[in-house]
Amino acid sequence: MDERRFVVWGSSGHARVLRDMLGPNDRIVGLIDNDRNARTIQNGVSLVVGIKGFRALMEEFRAESLSGLVAIGGGRGADRLEILDLFVASGLETPELIHPLAYCAPSSTVGKGSHVMAQSVLAADARIGRGVIINHGAVVDHECILADGVHIAPGATLCGCVHVGENAFIGAGATVLPRLHIGAGSVVGAGATVTCDVPENTVVTGIPARPVST
Ligand SMILES: CC(C)(COP(=O)(O)OP(=O)(O)OC[C@H]1O[C@@H](n2cnc3c(N)ncnc32)[C@H](O)[C@@H]1OP(=O)(O)O)[C@@H](O)C(=O)NCCC(=O)NCCS
Repeated sequence: MDERRFVVWGSSGHARVLRDMLGPNDRIVGLIDNDRNARTIQNGVSLVVGIKGFRALMEEFRAESLSGLVAIGGGRGADRLEILDLFVASGLETPELIHPLAYCAPSSTVGKGSHVMAQSVLAADARIGRGVIINHGAVVDHECILADGVHIAPGATLCGCVHVGENAFIGAGATVLPRLHIGAGSVVGAGATVTCDVPENTVVTGIPARPVST
């Protein structure tokens, strides 16, 4: 199999996880971060800063076919999608990464540039958009639909037929009961149990989950 060469945007903990998910024929050739104090996560590959650094990398590797990985974790779905779009516009492949120890039902689908971590489950007919993170040990049960930019944090459980709107973030260990809708841009706090629909751009915490007063 031909070598795949990756540029990675982001040099945080999420980047370390993605680095360790790459296969023997994958190689990181460029790293970009917006923070000039960030440190490289790949021996022998120095970090360049922001869009200017990215353009310089594109110039350096212009004769080669490259893939792009967006290594931005947390609730920053909008940032993930923006960089994903930049990669696509720059001619990079944006493959999904699925850990060999994740279970993805044959009828589930995963969008471009999404990451499915070890020990997570995508059950029958789950639909995962672009730039989504299904983190370690998360369960996305049958017929769930996740829009672009969603992040399901470690150990969270979406029961069957849950819909999650664009860029929403489901915190670590949270549970969302069946058939509920989580609005775009919303945050479900770590450990919460969601028992009714959550509107857009709302933060909920607790058991049962209630909106956080602002
Ligand atoms: C809910 C959340 C988004 C709130 O973040 P925040 O606005 O920065 O809130 P703060 O840390 O300032 O806490 C505000 C209050 O909410 C409480 N609180 C924070 N998170 C809570 C949670 N998950 N459940 C219950 N209460 C919580 C705090 O104890 C604090 O209470 P106090 O005012 O009585 O002291 C955040 O705490 C959270 O749960 N994030 C998910 C983190 C996660 O899962 N990361 C995974 C990374 S892969």
